[in-house]
Amino acid sequence: MNFKFKKYWRKTGLSPKWGNKLIEIIYEKNPNHFLEIGVFCGVTSRNVCEFLNLIHQGNFSYTGIDLFGEESEDNNEIKPYYITHQKFSNPLKHIYYNLYLKENLNSIESVKKFLQKFKTKVNLHKGNSNEILKNLNIDKIDFAFIDGGHSYQTTFNDLKVVHQSMKGKKGTIVCDDYEDASYITDVKKAIDDYVKKENLSLRTIDKKFAIIDI
Ligand SMILES: C[S@@+](CC[C@H](N)C(=O)[O-])C[C@H]1O[C@@H](n2cnc3c(N)ncnc32)[C@H](O)[C@@H]1O
Repeated sequence: MNFKFKKYWRKTGLSPKWGNKLIEIIYEKNPNHFLEIGVFCGVTSRNVCEFLNLIHQGNFSYTGIDLFGEESEDNNEIKPYYITHQKFSNPLKHIYYNLYLKENLNSIESVKKFLQKFKTKVNLHKGNSNEILKNLNIDKIDFAFIDGGHSYQTTFNDLKVVHQSMKGKKGTIVCDDYEDASYITDVKKAIDDYVKKENLSLRTIDKKFAIIDI
């Protein structure tokens, strides 16, 4: 497989090392309809679209959900500093995005523009996944990357809704931040509780990704 996860000079939740791991899992599972909860600045989205386009010659879809600046209304949700303040360690990025373009990379407009190349394949939804997922038809989704809200309730609900829609079909759910160096207790607990309740099997990759094969 000759594909390398790129950062596209933006901000990304996944480092190239982890982005490439995710691409490897996608390659292994060969899905056509991808859901990402927690789009952030769209870097994983763009890599996934490029990769699915390559392996399926355009026969794919990508659905992304993010607050894109909306408040989450979940008091247990800690909004990371890098989201509330568009800070860059590279001063050139600060000049380019904050001063010249005045572009918020975690906005739906910016991500839409960034994914323009795949506009007929991409559906972006702005809002809280706890609400959006209630009204979204995700029946055809066969791969979900859950990386949105990291509170217990949001993680549990995202996983539940996605799993219920995949039940009885083939699918893969990958949850980020399960147990890595920066692991978030609530995320692990929510995943463990749901997996136990539904009697699912879980495998992990380097304690970061939790993978549930349906
Ligand atoms: C860790 S970042 C996602 C990183 C992204 N998957 C990547 O690989 O670059 C988490 C994102 O989830 C979004 N988010 C947090 N709580 C959410 C919620 N309840 N519903 C939807 N999106 C949420 C944040 O706005 C943020 O952009």
